[in-house]
Amino acid sequence: MSGPSTTRHLLSIDDLDGDTIRAILARSRDLAAGAQSRARGAIAALLFFSPSTRTQYGFQSSVLRAGGGVISVDLENSRAGSNWGESLADTARVLSGFADLAVIRHSEADGVYDFAEACTIPVINAGNGMGLRAEHPTQALIDLFTIEKAFGRIDGLKILIIGGTHLRAFRSQIRALAHFPQVELFVLCPDKFWMEFADAEHYRRAGIRFTRIGHLDEVKRNVDVIYHNGITERRGEPVDSFYALDRAKLSEMRADAIVMHSLPRVEDLAHDVDGMPQARYFEQAHNGVPVRAAIIEHLLAAQRE
Ligand code: CP
Repeated sequence: MSGPSTTRHLLSIDDLDGDTIRAILARSRDLAAGAQSRARGAIAALLFFSPSTRTQYGFQSSVLRAGGGVISVDLENSRAGSNWGESLADTARVLSGFADLAVIRHSEADGVYDFAEACTIPVINAGNGMGLRAEHPTQALIDLFTIEKAFGRIDGLKILIIGGTHLRAFRSQIRALAHFPQVELFVLCPDKFWMEFADAEHYRRAGIRFTRIGHLDEVKRNVDVIYHNGITERRGEPVDSFYALDRAKLSEMRADAIVMHSLPRVEDLAHDVDGMPQARYFEQAHNGVPVRAAIIEHLLAAQRE
């Protein structure tokens, strides 16, 4: 098949309006409580051109638990990988006949968009590199679900995000949180990783509000959520201890607050936080199973319309 696709994809969190985000969260709650999946028998093609544990195997788990099947594209032994290098567009055209939806992570922001343009099945962006088009929309939905699960609501909460505002997850998170206008959002980020002008302009035009702070101590006794989102995507790059979390720094946080992290962690989150009752990051990763199942149901239903 050729020609531009009219299939509905999830490439940016902006592909979902606020009502749809709320519906996905509600359905995630039902699925987490044991509701029968509406995606039974669906086949997902998974293409991970860059490393992933939570997103890759979380999607696998979602589909398998829903009674579906997975084509996990082996980049070493398929034409799509570096050994042969079949184009993303041709790979997309072929997989569109083999699966009901595709999940792709790529190191280039445009790679996911090129793939989706040629696909006639729904495509989910599982993280697309760095740069202005880079996002991680399913991470943002998992984050919202985790917060709502802990507090029974999102609106009205005070949330601190620590980390690089240039990272794809942040770009999706801040847009997703904007659908909850009573959220008070604080951001702690080193100058080196502060957002580009184009991102700042986008947030300003979209009316997305946040307060930049200079030190954890400014808000740690008051916020409901302390979310460390990672400082850099580059493994081995040293983390400034000023921006790292440990039990001592968090000792004065509220007893009913929660600590989140998108993981994997490096020196940005000490292991001594794991035993704190506020630590929710492993539960956050596990929440990916019902949330991704709800996303898949939503896209398959939209495809049938
Ligand atoms: N949080 C997240 O995207 O983790 P992975 O890179 O392991 O998928």
